[in-house]
Amino acid sequence: MNCRRLVYVVVWFNLYVACTFIQVSGLDASNFSKCWFPAIYNFGDSNSDTGAVFAAFTGVKPPNGISFFGSLSGRASDGRLIIDFMTEELKLPYLNAYLDSVGSNYRHGANFAVGGSSIRPGGFSPFPLGLQVAQFLLFKFHTNTLFNQFSNNRTEQPFKNSLPRPEDFSKALYTFDIGQNDLAFGLQHTSQEQVIKSIPEILNQFFQAVQQLYNVGARVFWIHNTGPIGCLPYSYIYYEPKKGNIDANGCVKPQNDLAQEFNRQLKDQVFQLRRKFPLAKFTYVDVYTAKYELINNTRNQGGRQVLKVTQNLGKNNVSLFLVINLIIIFLLVN
Ligand SMILES: *[C@@H]1O[C@H](CO)[C@@H](O)[C@H](O)[C@H]1NC(C)=O
Ligand SMILES: *[C@@H]1O[C@H](CO)[C@@H](O)[C@H](O)[C@H]1NC(C)=O
Ligand SMILES: *[C@@H]1O[C@H](CO)[C@@H](O)[C@H](O)[C@H]1NC(C)=O
Repeated sequence: MNCRRLVYVVVWFNLYVACTFIQVSGLDASNFSKCWFPAIYNFGDSNSDTGAVFAAFTGVKPPNGISFFGSLSGRASDGRLIIDFMTEELKLPYLNAYLDSVGSNYRHGANFAVGGSSIRPGGFSPFPLGLQVAQFLLFKFHTNTLFNQFSNNRTEQPFKNSLPRPEDFSKALYTFDIGQNDLAFGLQHTSQEQVIKSIPEILNQFFQAVQQLYNVGARVFWIHNTGPIGCLPYSYIYYEPKKGNIDANGCVKPQNDLAQEFNRQLKDQVFQLRRKFPLAKFTYVDVYTAKYELINNTRNQGGRQVLKVTQNLGKNNVSLFLVINLIIIFLLVN
C-alpha cells in the first residue's frame, strides 16, 4: 500500500462512515446517501491553504507546485493537499482561495484557509478562524445577492456560473483543519504548561465558529484533528530535540503529547457539538494517526528519510514562515 493510498483509506473510510450515518438518520437522504456534496467550504491553515497566502502575501515560491501542478499552485507544497484529494474524490474542482481574485470560480465552494492561521487571534497570521468565518458570512451574503441579481437579467446570466447556488450552502460539506498554529505559537511564546492550560479557551473559540456556521444553515461538518507537530521540521530544527525527549522516529515527544492532549479535548468538543446540534452531522477525523503512521512507516512505504529531507529544506530553501507550516505528509504524498 503506498502512502497516498493510506491517506485515502483513512480519510475515505471516515467519510464513508459519516455518509452511512447521515443516510441512516435520514437527513436530506437524497443528496447525502450517495455522499454527494455540491460544494465544500474549508477553514484552516497551510494544511489546506490552496492559494490564500500566495494571493495575499505572494509568499509561496518555487519549488512549491512544480512536481504536480507544473507551476506555482498557491499551495505551500510541491504536491496536492488532503483537501485536494477530497475534492477529487467528490468529483469537485479544486477549491479556490477566497482571497484569490484571479480566475477563481466559487460554484462548488471556496477555501477560507490561510497558511499560518490559528483558531485564536494574535498568532502567526492575521486571518484567525473567527475572521475566516466572518469572511464566509460576507461571501454568502454577497454571492447570494449577486446570484439573484444575475438571475433576473438575461444579459448578466452567464456571470452566475462562477457563483455558488444559494440553495447549495445548506447541502455543502464544511471542513476544518486548524489548531496546529495555536499550539506552535504558544510553544514559541509561552511554556508547554501554559499551552495546555489554553486549550479549553482555544476550543471554546472553535465551538463558537462552528455555531456561527450552523446558525446560517451549515449542517455537515468534517473536522480534522491536529497532526504530530513534534515531527515537523520546525520542531526538529528549532526546539533542538534532546536525548530522552525524542521518539524512535526522531520526533519531539512532549510536543506530540501536547498535540494528542489537544486532540482528546477536540474530540470531546465534537461530542458536545453533536449533543447541542442534533440536526447536524459532525465527523471527527484522526489525521494525527494517519500522519504519524506515514512517518513511522516511511521506509516500508518506499519513502525517503523524512527528517533529513525536511531539515535540508528548512535550512536552505524555505523561509521560516513556510517551515512552521510545512507538513511532512505533503512530501510523502507526492
Ligand atoms: C441588465 O444588465 C445589463 C448589463 O449589466 C444592464 O445594462 C441592464 O440595464 C440590465 N437590465 C435590467 C432590466 O436591469
Ligand atoms: C511504528 O512502527 C513499528 C515498526 O513497524 C511498530 O512496531 C510500532 O508499533 C509503530 N508505532 C506506532 C506508534 O505506530
Ligand atoms: C535546497 O537546498 C539543498 C541543499 O543546499 C540543495 O541541494 C537543493 O538543490 C535546494 N533545492 C532547491 C529546489 O533549491
